[in-house]
This record gives sequence, structure tokens and C-alpha cells, in this order.
Amino acid sequence: MKIIGVVSGKGGVGKTTTVANLGAALFSELNRRVLLVDGNFSTPDLGLHLGIYSFSNTLEDVLRKKIPAAEAIYSNNSGINVMSTSLSTDKPKRPPSTVNLKKVLQGLKKYEWILVDSAPGIGKDTISILKVCDEVLVVTNPELPAINNTLKMIKTAETIGVPVKGVILNKVRGRGYEPSISEIDAVCNAPVIASIPDDVEVIRSISDMNPVVLNAPNSPAAIEFKKLAAHLVGKEYKVELWGRVRQFFRF
Ligand SMILES: Nc1ncnc2c1ncn2[C@@H]1O[C@H](COP(=O)(O)OP(=O)(O)O)[C@@H](O)[C@H]1O
Ligand SMILES: [Mg+2]
Repeated sequence: MKIIGVVSGKGGVGKTTTVANLGAALFSELNRRVLLVDGNFSTPDLGLHLGIYSFSNTLEDVLRKKIPAAEAIYSNNSGINVMSTSLSTDKPKRPPSTVNLKKVLQGLKKYEWILVDSAPGIGKDTISILKVCDEVLVVTNPELPAINNTLKMIKTAETIGVPVKGVILNKVRGRGYEPSISEIDAVCNAPVIASIPDDVEVIRSISDMNPVVLNAPNSPAAIEFKKLAAHLVGKEYKVELWGRVRQFFRF
């Protein structure tokens, strides 16, 4: 089992979108046993990306030892397994201790991949997530403020001793003013392992509460998420030409 954290130095860059789509691609395309965990205690929303509005049993309940972890795992319409912190707006201000989180996740032995979404930045919540992960993916955008904060995140991960698997560059428009992948590689001293385009199908899929990988499987963003999933499991992704043609004509 691998526990992969999806983190960022800055909010709104696409962590939750990445967790939902990487999870959907690993599960639906590559038939992997995947659990998605929303480890954002203050502003969780992974469930909403997957069509789940509320969780009766939550990660907080598990960490407070009210229920076993298996009872807080839900399946969405596509069969993707997810465990989340409470989406309720009136929950206790103080989140539960995460000292047992790693043990809890490691106990869920039937999964090959556990992807953990996190709060943005390098606050206490994120640090506690970094500590439970075997590796992290750092999501960023091709903009200087995002990259500056990515650098801080990578340094924090290094200090904690969690390896950075790679940087995911999201919302790429391919404009001349954007820093190039090689520049970002060099600045971050970590490989950019995915370049996900800024794609209106991602926004449509969030509105449809269904990851773009499933909602518009041949859209440019979906293809890049599928390539990333294939890379993680050590496979090569082959672009399906007819799928691209169908997408072009919107069949
Ligand atoms: N590849 C993309 N193309 C277009 N819009 C995107 C893309 N990825 C994310 N977004 C937009 O950015 C918003 C924030 O993404 P989200 O995954 O919630 O970020 P984070 O979890 O890092 O805060 C989404 O609601 C969506 O509108
Ligand atoms: Mg998020």
C-alpha cells in the first residue's frame, strides 16, 4: 500500500480536483484498489467532487475512536471509495488528534493506493497530513506566487522527511508568459510529472459532481490525469485517437 498526500503551498490550485481524478483514473481505468481521503479538517470538499453531499460517519469519528475506519468509507455512484472529514458547517472548532491517522490508514489493508487531500499551505493541518504520507504530490499553477509557495512546501516536506514524488502543474494555458516546465523543474528541484491544461470540462465536471476523467474522458484534462495515473503505476498511457475525434465533434 502507498499513502500519497496531495498538497500545495497555495489554495485553489487543484488539489481536490487532482485527488478526485487521479482516484477515478486509478480505479476505473487501471482497476486499482483505491481509497480517497479528505484530510482537510477545516474546509473539506472532496465528497462534492464525487457526488457525495454528506457523510454520516466521518474521519473525525474514526480518529475519536467512535467507529472503526471501515465504517467511514463510502462508495460514490461510480464505486470510488472515499472517507472524509465532516462537511457540516457547525462542527467542533478543534479537530481531533491525528497521531493515529497513519496507523488507521495502514490498517485498511485491502487498498493499494490511498490518496489524501489536504488543506492548502504549510499550517498545522497540512503538516499532520505530510507526516502520515509515504510520498507527496505537490500541485501548483504556472504562476510565480504559486511556484514560490510550492518551493516552501517542498522544503517543508524535505524537513519532515517525506519524499516529493513530483510536481503537478495544473491550469496550464500554454501562454508565453507562463514559466516553462524546465524552469519550474529547476526552481523546485523536483520533477514536473504532469501538466494538466486549464480545461472548461473540469469546471463542468465539478458542476456535474463527477470527475472529468469519467465525465468527459477524452477531454484534454482527462487525458493528462489518466497519463499521470498510468505514470504512478509504471505504465504507459496510450491516447485513444477515436476518443479524441469523438470529443472534438462532441459525440
Ligand atoms: N485543470 C483545470 N482547468 C480548469 N479549471 C480548473 C482546473 N483545475 C481546477 N480548476 C478550477 O479551480 C478550482 C479549485 O480547484 P480545487 O481542486 O478545489 O483546488 P484546491 O483543492 O487546491 O483548493 C476548481 O473549483 C475549478 O473551478
Ligand atoms: Mg481542496
